[in-house]
Amino acid sequence: MRIEQYIENKKRKQDGPVCAYVYDLGQLRKHVETLKNSLPAFCRLFYAVKANPDPRILGTLATMVDGFEVASGGELQKVPHQKPMLFGAPAKKQEEIEEAIDAGVEAINVESFHDLNRIEWLSNQKGVITPILIRVNLSRDVPESHHMMSGVPTQFGVDEREVPLIIQKALEMNHVSIDGFHFHAMSNNLKAQAHVQFVAMCLEKAKSWRTRFGLSIRTVDIGGGIGINYWNPEEPFDWDTFATGLHKLEPRMDGLALVLELGRFMTSAAGSYVTEVIDVKANHDQHFALIRGGSHHLRLPAAWKMNHPFRIHPVKEWEAPYERPGVKEAEVTIAGELCTPNDVLVRSEHVEELRAGDVVIFDYAGAYAWTISHHEFLSHPKPEFIYLDEKK
Ligand SMILES: Cc1ncc(COP(=O)(O)O)c(C=O)c1O
Repeated sequence: MRIEQYIENKKRKQDGPVCAYVYDLGQLRKHVETLKNSLPAFCRLFYAVKANPDPRILGTLATMVDGFEVASGGELQKVPHQKPMLFGAPAKKQEEIEEAIDAGVEAINVESFHDLNRIEWLSNQKGVITPILIRVNLSRDVPESHHMMSGVPTQFGVDEREVPLIIQKALEMNHVSIDGFHFHAMSNNLKAQAHVQFVAMCLEKAKSWRTRFGLSIRTVDIGGGIGINYWNPEEPFDWDTFATGLHKLEPRMDGLALVLELGRFMTSAAGSYVTEVIDVKANHDQHFALIRGGSHHLRLPAAWKMNHPFRIHPVKEWEAPYERPGVKEAEVTIAGELCTPNDVLVRSEHVEELRAGDVVIFDYAGAYAWTISHHEFLSHPKPEFIYLDEKK
């Protein structure tokens, strides 16, 4: 089944307006297979669960990825524990650290001296040695991207200038072992070559600390941050350039594994938010299409103050006995059903035609879409969740 078929079926049944997240699990499988096949053997491909913890998505990825990156006790409960897991979060609660240790995660990120002390103490209590990755907040040299989590002051990681000190402290402890370094630093980077340079720089930093402190580390974790070009989907992040760049790093790996924790780039294109136009009107000389749903289902465009890419599925049938509102060849703002002017998914975009009863498809809604939205605001019904799976 395709999205269009789902829309036709839903319309035929006449059981309320179309409003759904449609996840294409077949697309997801193919996409992840392509990513995996293009990566050199020294890479391990993890999925950052925060991007979309939908159980069917996690189930699909479980057989494909090398592991899961989890950032809370809740996420830890959602992933299959037989896969490798990396646990990292700012403001970890004691219970979460314990749960991560008990679940046998491969490593826990250390984001501060206090984090280190707590992991050491809890591991001692449990009589275990816990592998850690020291999360570094780099001093500079992080490519410009939508959100900078490193290279600028943030709540994440250990200031690069303090990394030698935290290594020394960890080496004095008996219940943690340094397994490597974690460098997640940005979000939605669209420049492939810059991302390769970032990886090469992280690798050199990790190797220099390894040499200086005689560490026996295995892992350089570069996090996620590979972007989706929502503004111009025709010009996506150039994955081939990135993968080729990684292959060229092979001689410099020195036995280290490179962990990628992809979220957005893994699942974004597998999801679409599909919703029906309820009304079309003009106000202060501007055209508005009001949809069932809105930013409480898909908060990303409001959060990033951008227009989400969309396409229109025209619906010919109109059975109501009164006039059908619509516009032709006009600039339209697509707004949601909430009582706030911020509930806008698209501002002033040209459409050939858009009428009440037509359906708008917002692609690239498989990551940081439903999960980051404020579902309870105004108590409207939730969207349906539909799974397309070409195998069925
Ligand atoms: C530690 C860590 N790893 C991986 C990711 C995934 O990043 P992205 O979805 O940009 O690939 C995030 C996102 O915030 C993160 O905080």
